[in-house]
Amino acid sequence: MTRKILVTSALPYANGAIHLGHLVEYIQTDIWVRFQKMRGHQCWYVCADDTHGTPIMLRAEQEGISPEALIERVHGEHTRDFAGFHIGFDDYYTTHSAETRACANEIYARLRAAGLIEARTIEQYYDPLKRMFLPDRFIKGECPKCGAADQYGDNCESCGAAYTADELKNPYSAVSGARPELRQSEHFFFRLSDPRCQAFLRRWTQAEGRLQNEAANKLQEWLGGGDENRLTDWDISRDAPYFGFEIPDAPGKYFYVWLDAPIGYMGAFRHLCDRLGLDFDEYWRPDSRTELYHFIGKDILYFHALFWPAELEHAGYRTPTKVFAHGFLTVDGAKMSKSRGTFITAASYLERGLDPEWLRYYYAAKLGSSMEDIDLNLDDFIARVNSDLVGKFVNIASRSAGFIVRKFAGRLCTCDESLPAIEAIRERRRLIADHYEAREFSKAIREIMALTDLANQYVDSVKPWELARQADRESELQAACSNAINLFRLFAILLKPVLPALAAKTEAFLNVAPLVWADAATVLAAGHVINDYRHMLTRVEKQQIDALLAANRESLAATPPAAPQKHAEHQEKAAVVAAAQAAVASSTGPHISIDDFLRADLRVARISAAEQVEGADKLLRLLLDLGPLGTRQVFAGIKAAYDPATLVGRLTVMVANLAPRKMKFGLSEGMILAASDPAGETPGIFLLALDDGAQPGMRVR
Ligand code: MSP
Ligand code: ZN
Repeated sequence: MTRKILVTSALPYANGAIHLGHLVEYIQTDIWVRFQKMRGHQCWYVCADDTHGTPIMLRAEQEGISPEALIERVHGEHTRDFAGFHIGFDDYYTTHSAETRACANEIYARLRAAGLIEARTIEQYYDPLKRMFLPDRFIKGECPKCGAADQYGDNCESCGAAYTADELKNPYSAVSGARPELRQSEHFFFRLSDPRCQAFLRRWTQAEGRLQNEAANKLQEWLGGGDENRLTDWDISRDAPYFGFEIPDAPGKYFYVWLDAPIGYMGAFRHLCDRLGLDFDEYWRPDSRTELYHFIGKDILYFHALFWPAELEHAGYRTPTKVFAHGFLTVDGAKMSKSRGTFITAASYLERGLDPEWLRYYYAAKLGSSMEDIDLNLDDFIARVNSDLVGKFVNIASRSAGFIVRKFAGRLCTCDESLPAIEAIRERRRLIADHYEAREFSKAIREIMALTDLANQYVDSVKPWELARQADRESELQAACSNAINLFRLFAILLKPVLPALAAKTEAFLNVAPLVWADAATVLAAGHVINDYRHMLTRVEKQQIDALLAANRESLAATPPAAPQKHAEHQEKAAVVAAAQAAVASSTGPHISIDDFLRADLRVARISAAEQVEGADKLLRLLLDLGPLGTRQVFAGIKAAYDPATLVGRLTVMVANLAPRKMKFGLSEGMILAASDPAGETPGIFLLALDDGAQPGMRVR
């Protein structure tokens, strides 16, 4: 039976570049969609840029362009990056569209008619300089729990406490630096606390197979049990100035970006329907028999498993069949980091000529159906791509195709379907399909690679290269190579969801129509003529990875201040920092702002080695251990005051983001802090020390 399936990936924010973290999601979704299409199902894959909200508005302002110009430029960049990784959207649209606006207005009107929208006056921080209300993320201040300075308005990076912006002490606007004032304003709320919503969500989230177990458990926690009402109403409006959709009949009020973002799935699909003449309602009416799947990261589960289905249900639409959440990407076991160069953009990967299918393959080999984080281990990446893709898969063709082309004018003879490798493929094909269907890609890949081992054993046993040297064994050679090429074709089919470009090259080389899943049941007929074999895939070299990291490495000195890595994935942060910097740049006078101060990245360092420097009369060479940030070499002018042996092991403070300086004796990668009297009345140099408990790498501020 042909299924009708609509699939989405989360809509990336329109103010930042696509990076390898994002690509976990788009590659995962794309593999699944390609698999469904190969199976003959009608499957549509739509996505769009998420274009609204304060960060995008401020970012455009900071660049001196209109938000429309910004989102148009980014749309071009995102489209190019996704195409570069073979993400085969049927429509890649924008939430800033007539279609999304119409759907948003419709949903809002229906929710209001259902009595689920309520107007309420709230107090909110207002920036009197910028003349705008401030989202919590744009307010900073001291943590109400631990007192740490410079914390965002929603949680503390230092002690982890969660709170609301009005609890911050000494708040200031991250946009202008001004002290914000509390002002009143009328907002619209979606009444999630309504018993209808609660009852619906309890049922919906616990329905069999709807969510992954871990996700269902999370939701149970959020929803609470029995008659408990843990959900609070959701504020869905924002005041001007705001970049978004103005709410009908409410001048100066806009839909909050997260209200129209998922509606962007509908807008994009509407756009596709209009282009292709599809029936939009067939997919969205409450009794729809089509399937709807959302692929998302675990960070946005809340929006997709609570707000979104509740909106759809009570506005008279169908709800998602399933929501698939995935984990976050780490690189070499750590969060992506700009200073290490592991915050790798899609564009930089492509620009440096790395093959997108290496990454698609690696992710597939790592991805399962769970919400666990996945690690891109760079050494493992090189090893797997080279040994599996090149060594096991492509090798089958490269060791046999040339003989067929040169000696037999490209003509194949009968394939021996009783070969153990071919029988094993026939037998495992179903299981592999089940793995794809269940998003257990790593299991599918493991099966396929085990089968390539069998195929290579076959090629090794018949040794075409030896047969080719013996004039009387031509027919054996043709048979061996025909079998090998048929094996290669079968693997190309099984891997096609993961490696679509390689599959396309294979189709051209084999001179066959686009391969579909059912083709794995057949072999090429005797007499079939193949084309010239062209190179399919190269090996990854370590130098390419090193160059990629170097291209993405921002020297710490160039990194903006106080950018807590925790929110690095969230483009909002980029806007906060940019806006704060813009504000800083325009400030004059003897005071510096807190952001100015925080530009210096001060860290606790343990002196792990100290020694005299030959030929230097003031300097000592120090090795400083910064814990998770690694080790630095610093030349410090403290020789007159300290015996190196007494320094080893002690903690001090260093400036970690000074531009490295090349000295006669080597590279100095920072500076340690010490007190001294510039007038020279009290001679001496006094290194800073730390109280017990401080750990290398801790931030000092
Ligand atoms: N705009 C929202 C989504 C709106 S959907 C109606 C958003 N955008 S995002 O650009 O921050 O992220 C887009 C998707 O990429 C999200 O599903 C997010 O979880 C995923 N990822 C972003 N960084 C990621 C990693 N480092 N690792 C894995 N996935 C990541 O959220
Ligand atoms: Zn705190």
